Amino acid sequence: MALAEIGLVGLGVMGAALALNIAEKGHRIAVWNRSFDVTEKFAAGAGELAARITATQGLKDLVAAIAEPRAIILMVPAGEPVDEMIAALRPLLGQNDLIIDAGNANFHDTERRSAEAEAKGVPFIGMGVSGGEEGARHGPAIMGGGPREAWNRVAPIMEAIAAKHEGTPCATWMGPAGAGHFVKTVHNGIEYADMQMIAEAYGLMRDGMGLSAAEIAPVFEAWNKGALRSYLIEISGKVARATDPATGAAMLDVILDAAGQKGTGRWTAIEAQHLAAPVPVIEAAVMARNVSSRLEERRAGEAVFGAGPQPLNDALSLADIEGALIAGKILCYAQGFTMLDAASKTYGWGVPLPECAKVWREGCIIRSDMLDHMAQALTEDPARNLILAPTFTALLKQHHEALRRVVANAALKGHSLPALSSGLAWFDLMRTARGTANMLQAQRDFFGAHGFDRLDGKPIHHGPWGNHA
Ligand code: 6PG
Repeated sequence: MALAEIGLVGLGVMGAALALNIAEKGHRIAVWNRSFDVTEKFAAGAGELAARITATQGLKDLVAAIAEPRAIILMVPAGEPVDEMIAALRPLLGQNDLIIDAGNANFHDTERRSAEAEAKGVPFIGMGVSGGEEGARHGPAIMGGGPREAWNRVAPIMEAIAAKHEGTPCATWMGPAGAGHFVKTVHNGIEYADMQMIAEAYGLMRDGMGLSAAEIAPVFEAWNKGALRSYLIEISGKVARATDPATGAAMLDVILDAAGQKGTGRWTAIEAQHLAAPVPVIEAAVMARNVSSRLEERRAGEAVFGAGPQPLNDALSLADIEGALIAGKILCYAQGFTMLDAASKTYGWGVPLPECAKVWREGCIIRSDMLDHMAQALTEDPARNLILAPTFTALLKQHHEALRRVVANAALKGHSLPALSSGLAWFDLMRTARGTANMLQAQRDFFGAHGFDRLDGKPIHHGPWGNHA
């Protein structure tokens, strides 16, 4: 068989799907997995695509099966397995051979691996891939980071396998070193926030309006025809409609309310704090997942204080909840893009914000119609906060009262809306020219002589307290 154009290590769910996608788009690929059984089964199940797949048994065989200069995608669990694979592969590769880590790496690891590769004079790319198994198989969103020339070498394959938005491939170089994995991390933080806000809307309908899952499904389906049209709203309608084959009950009603996580949302919140570019809606979503796992404590809390959510005021409508979600989503994305901008400046990456919005329009988990409008707004002015872009200003003016009604009513009736209420609190801070940090400054000066600036510009930096009078 002719030499492969690219190699892939790790035939788990995502790796196998990506390899089939690459073969299907006409590219010859050599694959390797720690256990050869898996590789053989994969090749045997590849049908007619097997003609473009070389199944290799040892790492040397893998390397020998790929045309030079080689490119090898790693699809192994993030963390040590990536370092182990790089350590095993590098000695077998030439100076020009490229390793691409396509897992959900922490961008600090990618920065370190990039620096190590640069010191050796070999190319390395950290690449975010979003869209789950379905996306990997038929068209993911791809966020590349590393040396531009290295990306250019593999861009044709990445663009071929990526999702397309009106013909434009959702595969883009986001900047050097850790930029691609950073963009993917923020994508996942937003994913957590979008999911949490939808879960909050679901809770209001279930516990506040007494709607069954079957009654909630058409609400999501209707929302998916409006401003909220997105993959996550679409699948929320589908899961609300599904019934449990084992019991016949609504699927949602038999699933334990304790959410898992692999950590990418948490990384977003941590990095946002380091960058002083807060993402409160994402932070709230991470918090809510953590609290969800504390089942015993929550049960004890309910036993002592009584159940939280009570029926909502009749005046609150489904349209209010839809409006709250629209406003919350805009606020969350405005925070996410501001964070990306801060990181890009801090690390000198030059991440093209409009391109991030464009890459997320198709293939990835947070794909939505609204991202197309965001791409337009960021193209007009990448430095402007999204809430100040005319399209989103208009939507916020239209819907922030609904968000306020929903958050206020929910608070009075004991519903917890961490993400939606954090969005509202941030929005109100962002529309208050004269805030209350003058009190913080006075306190800091009082106990620590930290000093403050004055509104009138007078060169007096301490208050009339204690030694500083
Ligand atoms: C994607 C997803 C994916 C992520 C899962 C699970 O973009 O395809 O973000 O990369 O691993 O969604 O994430 P959690 O287990 O943290 O929820």
